[in-house]
Amino acid sequence: MSSKIEIKRIDKSKIDSVDFNNLPFGSVFSDHMFTCTFKDGKWQNPIIEPFAPISLSPAAKIFHYGQSIFEGMKAYKDAEGNTLLFRPLDNCKRLNKSAERLVIPQIPEDVFMDGLKELLKVDEAWIPTNEGSSLYIRPFMFASGNGFHASPANEYKLIIATAPSGAYFAGKVKVLIEEKYARAANGGVGFAKAGGNYAAQFYPTQLAIEKGYNQVIWTDDNTHEFIEEAGAMNIFIRINDTLITSPTSDRILDGITRKSIIQIAEDMNIDVEVRKISVSEVIAAAQAGNLKEMFGAGTAAVISPIAGFGYQGSDYDLPELETPFAGILKKAITDIQTNKAKDPYGWRV
Ligand code: COI
Repeated sequence: MSSKIEIKRIDKSKIDSVDFNNLPFGSVFSDHMFTCTFKDGKWQNPIIEPFAPISLSPAAKIFHYGQSIFEGMKAYKDAEGNTLLFRPLDNCKRLNKSAERLVIPQIPEDVFMDGLKELLKVDEAWIPTNEGSSLYIRPFMFASGNGFHASPANEYKLIIATAPSGAYFAGKVKVLIEEKYARAANGGVGFAKAGGNYAAQFYPTQLAIEKGYNQVIWTDDNTHEFIEEAGAMNIFIRINDTLITSPTSDRILDGITRKSIIQIAEDMNIDVEVRKISVSEVIAAAQAGNLKEMFGAGTAAVISPIAGFGYQGSDYDLPELETPFAGILKKAITDIQTNKAKDPYGWRV
């Protein structure tokens, strides 16, 4: 296919109506979006056009069978005004891994990367420069082809839309360790960023919110004895000075923030263990005073410290540390992302 991108610019930018000092997360959208359509067995010429509603048939298979996957990425500006991305090819590769599982066609890496870079050039003015803000990037692919037959569609769209965003969570996060529901099962799609994985979280999360918590800590579907993820993020648990995170599997997302944090922590000589961790181990550590920190890690929130958790009717508070690993690691990763620190890994693009 040709990757020549047609560009149709917006008549009048919406940027003057946006308060960049008070950005919500993911609900103010930039002027343009990138779209590439898969049709007649191949990806067609891509286009960058004004961000606007799209037209789909009510029979589009996305509505019926949920063939839909997405990624989360961020763009930053450094002090010299350069636009920066963090490990973008890893997102493209993971999108294709999710695509394979959902029988969505593979997007060629050059189409994805060229489209993303061109979109960021067109909407460069939308990349926030204030501390803690960034341009959240949402690439997604879905079945736009029609039919009620329960089989893969014959047409798909890749869209990349962006939203200048502030923090994902405001305030302290209290979580509930899940004893009944699961977000993923062996042989399922938990490792993929399938939209349905997130839809399935809403009900148990709603029940947790009604009980006074912000999020659910997911446990394994079989025994509910092992900790898997934190809300829509990977999880890290610090017992004494060891940082523990569950291994990736069919059920656990191979998070880019997760793997970057593991690498950075190891290089800081923090003891990291990638292994299964049981709820009983966490409770025993909390009771013995050895449970120092728990935090979620993901693109949107980067690192989200957990202030306390509930389990089987009891609440446990985590200590407030002066220099938590969460703070040290968040600074280390965001300094690399925003070019405030050297990037020995070659992650910054
Ligand atoms: C991200 O952290 O970017 C994610 O994909 C989670 C999303 C549900 C906000």
